[in-house]
Amino acid sequence: MRLEGKVALVTGSSQGIGQGIVLRLAQEGADVVINYRSHPEGAEETLAKVQALGGRCYTAQSSNSHGLTIKADLGSVDEVRQLIAESIEHFGRLDILVNNAGIEKHAPFWEVTEADYDAVMNVNLKGVFFATQAFVQHLIATKRTGKIINISSVHEELPFPNFAAYCASKGGMKMLVRNLAVELGSLGITINNVAPGAIETPINTNLLNYPEKLGALLQNIPLGRLGQPQDVASLVAFLASSDADYITGSTFFVDGGLLWNYQEQ
Ligand code: BGC
Repeated sequence: MRLEGKVALVTGSSQGIGQGIVLRLAQEGADVVINYRSHPEGAEETLAKVQALGGRCYTAQSSNSHGLTIKADLGSVDEVRQLIAESIEHFGRLDILVNNAGIEKHAPFWEVTEADYDAVMNVNLKGVFFATQAFVQHLIATKRTGKIINISSVHEELPFPNFAAYCASKGGMKMLVRNLAVELGSLGITINNVAPGAIETPINTNLLNYPEKLGALLQNIPLGRLGQPQDVASLVAFLASSDADYITGSTFFVDGGLLWNYQEQ
């Protein structure tokens, strides 16, 4: 139970990697705040699973004594600030922030609309920026240290044709983690990126429905399989724990070797 007594907020935790992270942090003893934007039923499912593990958590629509489920669109700075404030209000503190919420939109570069560009950048980069800022303000005000873990992507490093805005947002996270590691170090706050490759989650529904595309991708993954949310969650739990106290400003890839497997066709 490495996270006993800690409170963690995981953005975008009604499904996929975020849900896996919540469950793992709860297993490690943390109290967790579940956040969703459009899937209250997913948030409730996450909550039920946490409760089955015996954990305490806070969601905004649940009627039980554990609280309510917090609905917040990470693309809105007002909602981001509200989310952090409500989390702190409920548990009295926040020790771990996992910036997990993220979206991607498929289109050739020359067809990307301003609305799609804004949607991707607002959730993936602006939301991370201001959630982290609100969390750091709380840590400074309460004179405590904390841990920030961003869920980035192999595409903070690797091009992803037809996902230009997504890549730009993840590239932005790559520099943000380096900058903030330096700026927050003297406060005892660590920040790291976890960069998943192809994980079997709803963001990859399209891929999972195309056996040809999936087959081609699997050829590029040395470990020969898609990742599972728990493959990512176990690393997040480590980075959130005191075992990782001396680690800051780094990106850790969880991709079955995908990033380094360039092959001439
Ligand atoms: C994307 C997935 C993609 C994976 C590997 C992730 O960042 O969200 O859509 O399959 O990278 O390319």
